[in-house]
Amino acid sequence: MKVILAEYSGFCFGVKKAIDRAFNEVKLNKEEQPIYSLGPLIHNPQVVAKLAESGVKVVDNLDEIKEKGNIIIRSHGVSEEIYGAAKKKASKIINTTCPFVRRIQDIVKEHHQKGYKIAIIGNPNHPEVIGINGWCNNEGMIIKEKEDVEKIPIDSPLCVVVQTTMAIPLYHELTQLINSRVKDKEIKIYNTICHATQERQNAVKSLAKEVDAMIVVGGYHSSNTQKLVAISKVERPDTTFHVETAEELDLDQLKKFEILGVTAGASTPPWIIDAVVKRLNSLE
Ligand code: F3S
Repeated sequence: MKVILAEYSGFCFGVKKAIDRAFNEVKLNKEEQPIYSLGPLIHNPQVVAKLAESGVKVVDNLDEIKEKGNIIIRSHGVSEEIYGAAKKKASKIINTTCPFVRRIQDIVKEHHQKGYKIAIIGNPNHPEVIGINGWCNNEGMIIKEKEDVEKIPIDSPLCVVVQTTMAIPLYHELTQLINSRVKDKEIKIYNTICHATQERQNAVKSLAKEVDAMIVVGGYHSSNTQKLVAISKVERPDTTFHVETAEELDLDQLKKFEILGVTAGASTPPWIIDAVVKRLNSLE
């Protein structure tokens, strides 16, 4: 049995920065102000539980905050309106919006002000997409699949951005359709899929070809982890396994394979990846 870890996996730059800042804030909080995270800081329940143990309370919306305190804006970002309201309500804002998400918010704001229609390729229910739309007055058209391209008007200049964790092939397919629909007007397409996503998706694609089975480690609600699972399944439809923790590995099922590949979403902490690799190595 051989276990191979993907070339790129686990915490990305934006998530690591957000986690470090949150734990640092706990350390600096000598006056013991309440610390709130507006939504779970990342889509990984184990990390969120650790933060909760250190005193970071997750709230779903600002109305839940009754006592003034420090408010953490997570890496997915929030809308302009919520950001403004949080600033009024907080003693201090800890803005951990990933710079790559921040860039998309700036692009849509600027182009919306200049009169462009905005199209956001992504999942309409994902907090990053909801937040981005809130920087163009919630007037963006959310393009999740081919059918959605038909809602794009053909007679207005258009600015297209993409959720940072979008699957690359779907992005290419959708932008091709958009280009052929809006032929006679200006279109600005910004490929805002972040490099961490691209690296992890490319790495899982090539590793899945080399192994007998793939283990994808990460939160069940993590968008980028779900994309890694989907990409792996193209190569390994019956032997791709998604787990959140090492304890979930089914060793009886896995011991029949000779080569196992491991990858992890951008919100999966190193200690969980290490535990998974260690447990798999115990099969040797
Ligand atoms: Fe940022 Fe990309 Fe990670 S957008 S939070 S570096 S997945």
